[in-house]
Amino acid sequence: MTKPETNLFTPHRLQGMELRNRLIRSATLEGMCGRDGLPTAALVDLYRRLAAGGCGLLISGITYVSEEGRLIPTGLGAACDAQLAGLKALAAAIHEEGGRFCLQLGHTGGQGRSTVCGQQPVAPSAVKLEQYPEMPREMTLAEIATSVAAFAAAAGRAKRAGCDAVQLHAAHGYLINQFLSPLTNQRQDGYGGDLAGRSRFLLETVAAVRQAVGVDFPLLVKLNGSDNLTGGLEIDESLAVAKLLDAAGIAGIEISSGTPASGDRVPIRLGHEKGDEMAYNVVLSRLIKQHVTCPVIAVGGIRSLHVATGLLRTNQADYLSLSRPLIREPDLPNKLQSGASDKSTCISCNGCLKTMLKGDLRCVVPHTS
Ligand SMILES: Cc1cc2nc3c(=O)[nH]c(=O)nc-3n(C[C@H](O)[C@H](O)[C@H](O)COP(=O)(O)O)c2cc1C
Repeated sequence: MTKPETNLFTPHRLQGMELRNRLIRSATLEGMCGRDGLPTAALVDLYRRLAAGGCGLLISGITYVSEEGRLIPTGLGAACDAQLAGLKALAAAIHEEGGRFCLQLGHTGGQGRSTVCGQQPVAPSAVKLEQYPEMPREMTLAEIATSVAAFAAAAGRAKRAGCDAVQLHAAHGYLINQFLSPLTNQRQDGYGGDLAGRSRFLLETVAAVRQAVGVDFPLLVKLNGSDNLTGGLEIDESLAVAKLLDAAGIAGIEISSGTPASGDRVPIRLGHEKGDEMAYNVVLSRLIKQHVTCPVIAVGGIRSLHVATGLLRTNQADYLSLSRPLIREPDLPNKLQSGASDKSTCISCNGCLKTMLKGDLRCVVPHTS
């Protein structure tokens, strides 16, 4: 059994936030909330178990900042003060187990469905693409300003509820990613065109969130290193965006890739459980890490202690983020630290995605004793 490298499990500060290790539960939509956006008791319990299982930082599933940004009917909400109580319950459960809680804030934009978001989905441009279930409507300048303000207000609620950090979901083809990508952003005004125009929505959101939570509250961003789509956001532009975010003083950047239309290079890839295919976004994140000063979080296909410690040792990442392995084994970090296990038994089959849509997030693969 491989002996854990000390720096994976050594307590560490991410901006002001003390973390007991460098393992992060990556944002994972659970579908375990009521239609009112409040968590069920089962979701509070799941977060308690994840925190007790040893991950240093737990990032929530995408949490909608406004009604028209809802992804599924049973997602977590931070769109109004009535949803504060739910965020407080989640934060308290995680803190009781010694964990830290980051709320992921998102807006589906053109990837929304009118039956869920209550209106024709809005997007930077009115273009029908494979990644959009419906034809979206182009956002007006007033709607852009309202959305920026909604992100900031939701971040303020996260702080008031006792969350330790927020993460902007700027990846996977959702609204912020749609503004960044030349494929989905065909605007002719100051929010489109060159990269300066396409990154304006993200940078204004970062500034507005900062204003709402103050400079000491950790603000993370999850960014696509590439959309893995012809005509989409590519690594050269993602790198430039990462540098802008770094200059804006964000606490850390998580590098993912893909949208639902990216074929076999979607964000949640199938069957990458073996050897070199592990850590499938690291080719992107290690490049970005070479050019930014803020911590870089690697995500996607990280399954073994060997790979995790190797990424830290070779300075390819500062933190390791895992989603599906922690659906299967919420206590995997503890097992890795104690030496009871040296890798996840997740086979990246994506059976969990179907259970999430039914509000019963779990691994469908039987455990062998
Ligand atoms: C059920 C499920 C729900 C997810 N929900 C989100 C989400 O809300 N926000 C997000 O940024 N990523 C989400 N992801 C993607 C993960 O955060 C992660 O980027 C991806 O699964 C790759 O990591 P893994 O190989 O460790 O699973 C989800 C993944 C799964 C399996």
